[in-house]
Amino acid sequence: MSSHPHILIVGASRGIGLGLAKACVNAGWTVYALARSLAGSAELKALAEQHSRQVSLIECDLLQANAAQLIKNAIGPQRLQAVLLNAGISGPEHQDPQQATATDIGTLFQVNAVAPIALAQQLTDLVEPGGVIAFTSSQMGSLQLNRAQHMPLYGASKAALNSLLLSWSSTYEQLPWSLLAIHPGWVRTDMGGANATLSVEESTQGILQVLTAHAGLNHCAFVDYENKTMPW
Ligand SMILES: NC(=O)c1ccc[n+]([C@@H]2O[C@H](COP(=O)([O-])OP(=O)(O)OC[C@H]3O[C@@H](n4cnc5c(N)ncnc54)[C@H](OP(=O)(O)O)[C@@H]3O)[C@@H](O)[C@H]2O)c1
Repeated sequence: MSSHPHILIVGASRGIGLGLAKACVNAGWTVYALARSLAGSAELKALAEQHSRQVSLIECDLLQANAAQLIKNAIGPQRLQAVLLNAGISGPEHQDPQQATATDIGTLFQVNAVAPIALAQQLTDLVEPGGVIAFTSSQMGSLQLNRAQHMPLYGASKAALNSLLLSWSSTYEQLPWSLLAIHPGWVRTDMGGANATLSVEESTQGILQVLTAHAGLNHCAFVDYENKTMPW
C-alpha cells in the first residue's frame, strides 16, 4: 500500500466508522468520510476541521439513488487504496420474523446487504488495482458459527451481505483488488452497547491493520478485526 493511502468510509458519523476515520488520520491517511447528516455528526465535523487537509466530508445517504455519483464528484480523479462500506442498522428491536413487516425487512436488507454491495460495484473505477474493498460484516452473518440466535433478522442481513460479496467475487477470474467481509468484534457503540468487550479504538486499530494486510492479495476473505479467518 502507498505511504499516503486514501480511504473512503461509508457510514462515518459515529461508532466504528468515526473511529476508523480517526485511526486513519492518525496513521497519515487521507479520508473521504460519508455521513447521511453532517448536522448530526458534530465529532466528524470537528475531525474534518482539525485535519482539513486529510479529511473530506460527503453528505449522502447510503440509500440515495445518486450516492455513487455524489461520491465520484467529491473524490474527483484521486484513486483510493481502500474503501470500507460500514453503515449498518440492527433492524426491528423484536428481531421476530413473525412480527417483521415488509418495510422492516426491506430496509434492513437494503441498508446492510444490497445497497453496500451495489454502491461498491459502482465505485470500482475509483479503486487502485491491489487496493481493498471491505464491508463491515459480523460474526452473526456466519452460517457455520450460527451466533445470531438473539438477533436472527440482523444475522440474516449480514449473511446476505456475505453471500452477495461471495457471488460478486466469483464473477472475476482474477480479482483486481481484495474483497473483504470484516467482523469488527463486539464493540462499545450505540449498536454494540455498553457491555461490549472492545473499545472503538481497539476494533478500529485492528481494522486498519486488516485493510493494510490485504492490500495486493487480490482475494476474497472473511476475517475479524484481528485478521483471523472467519467461517462463511
Ligand atoms: N458494534 C458492534 O459490536 C458490531 C459488531 C458487528 C458488526 N457491526 C457492524 O459495524 C458497522 C458499524 O456499527 P456501529 O457499531 O458503529 O453502529 P452505530 O454506532 O449504530 O453506527 C452506525 C453507522 O451507520 C450509519 N448509517 C446507518 N444507516 C445509514 C444510511 N442509510 N446511510 C448512511 N449511513 C448510515 C450511521 O449513520 P447515522 O449517524 O446517520 O445514523 C452510523 O454512522 C455496522 O455495519 C454494524 O452492523 C457492529
